[in-house]
Amino acid sequence: HRHLLGIEHLSPSDITAILDLAETYVELNRQPAKRADVLAGLTQINMFFEASTRTQASFELAGKRLGADVMNMAMQASSIKKGETLIDTAMTLNAMHPDLLVVRHPHSGAVDLLAQKVNCAVLNAGDGRHEHPTQALLDALTIRRAKGRLHRLNVAICGDIAHSRVARSNLILLGKMENRIRLIGPPTLVPAHFAEFGAEVHDDMHEGLKDVDVVMMLRLQKERMDGGFIPSEREYYHRYGLDSEKLALAKPDAIVMHPGPMNRGVEIDGTLADDINRSVIQDQVEMGVAVRMAAMELLARNLRGAA
Ligand code: CP
Repeated sequence: HRHLLGIEHLSPSDITAILDLAETYVELNRQPAKRADVLAGLTQINMFFEASTRTQASFELAGKRLGADVMNMAMQASSIKKGETLIDTAMTLNAMHPDLLVVRHPHSGAVDLLAQKVNCAVLNAGDGRHEHPTQALLDALTIRRAKGRLHRLNVAICGDIAHSRVARSNLILLGKMENRIRLIGPPTLVPAHFAEFGAEVHDDMHEGLKDVDVVMMLRLQKERMDGGFIPSEREYYHRYGLDSEKLALAKPDAIVMHPGPMNRGVEIDGTLADDINRSVIQDQVEMGVAVRMAAMELLARNLRGAA
């Protein structure tokens, strides 16, 4: 592959290859000296048109640990503010010969469009409600390490599915790896067509969580509910917030996931989120650096092969 734009373009063996390489980087990242120079001489530019903590920090660390020259464009201070378009901005940076472009954008499809215009490898760091492929890959690595496998698991994805690129990428990835998926949320936040991906849909946590192996919670994304129905946080927490009482319906060894940033007391109880016996939220963050190192290394191998 030339780019990493979405899980929809990856085969099960592509997914396994990324996760296997990421495993080696999990070990490296735990060493005091975290260097592997597989991106030495390459230039990585990070362009985030939307807020980020985990994805931006981990892409930057991933590039630096692999020896790339990494530049973070401060999009708020760029000529976008003077009316320059996304494509003109991308073409301008393209003329400086980057090798890897990491892009987050609020509009679905914006990253695919940009990838058609530039000569370098493009990694989608989240576009609107479309895809967030490295998030699904880091979630997959977290699940595989916690459960010992990435197939034939019952996975519940809960909450604001309608606005979630994380849910969409996970649904595609977990489906490709032959897991059983349940989507749980209020009907206003679970689009009916998502059932086409082969998932069961529930509007009651008590039904949906029964005997699942993995519980993946999602943030209520108010910034994407322009003009639409916004549920009251109190009511939402009562019906759809994950606490230890609702989690008791899942398998006794079920793990709790959340991509972050989380709203404690809205979609998840803060004490449960911090319970290292059940919650793998910090493992997800750790896996994020390793998965992004692996994804960039694999794209760089293609760049070098094409040179
Ligand atoms: N999970 C995730 O994408 O987090 P950030 O928005 O902080 O990057």
